Amino acid sequence: MTLNVEPVHPTFGGRVSGLMLRDVHDEPTLAAIRAAMDQYAVLIFPGQAFSHSEQLEFAERLDGVIHRKTGSRAIKKNRLGDEGITDISNVGADDEIMEKASRARLYSLGNRLWHTDASFEDPPGRYSMLHAKHIPEVRADTQFADTRTAYDDLSDSVKGSLKGLTVHHSIAYSRHTLGFSFSEEEAALLPGAHHPLVREFANTSRKALYLASHAAQVMEMSMPDGRLLIRDLMEHATQPKYVYQHEWTRDDLVIWDNRASMHRAMPFDDENHRRELVRVTTLDIAA
Ligand code: OGA
Ligand code: MN
Repeated sequence: MTLNVEPVHPTFGGRVSGLMLRDVHDEPTLAAIRAAMDQYAVLIFPGQAFSHSEQLEFAERLDGVIHRKTGSRAIKKNRLGDEGITDISNVGADDEIMEKASRARLYSLGNRLWHTDASFEDPPGRYSMLHAKHIPEVRADTQFADTRTAYDDLSDSVKGSLKGLTVHHSIAYSRHTLGFSFSEEEAALLPGAHHPLVREFANTSRKALYLASHAAQVMEMSMPDGRLLIRDLMEHATQPKYVYQHEWTRDDLVIWDNRASMHRAMPFDDENHRRELVRVTTLDIAA
């Protein structure tokens, strides 16, 4: 079975029509979605209806085990009752828009930095599936960067110099760059994790830069050398030519492969407009 995919960018990203994912149970269709993920890295499925449990069950059918060791669990109780359902909303437990100075809001501003989900955990996140429940009247887009093409475009000598490098990813580090601090007890839940700087894909034999604002240190280099390398590569990988900007429509489900892309939220007037999305992320472990 092949999917009906319309590309949204010259090198990655596609829009898939004709599927209601909560009803997709058959292995050939699930396999076709996985194959399209290998090809496109980001897929948009418009018009999806999901309860929380349907979204979790679909993620399990598509890709196995759900990520539950979220950064936000250190900060606040999950308002949706399951750590597998990550609340990407600007709404608090009282169902009101978060106060400008609320800690949960300040924590969530970290999503405005280029990142990959759960790269500060081991195993890290593989697929993230973000469902738009309520979209503001103003644009509040999400950008995605194609980290496979960004890798392909590096010179052979740079590619050679990246071989074997390992990066420490820490959400305490990325939040700290915004001046947000965790308490000692919170930080103890979030020690970070080590991952290769270059990811290789067995299925497609492609490679990608595996980076994020969580990337704090290259283990094989001095701190300044490593941080400068990370900055240079982040700057390279997020050039406009590698970026697809998604304008949300209510009931879009966007699935991205965290091993092959980075993403960030774009700013909007979040004090005056509700924006409610719910994310489920799977773990990058053998299927
Ligand atoms: C996420 C995320 C960005 C956005 O859901 O992981 O980073 O635009 N979202 O809300
Ligand atoms: Mn994210």
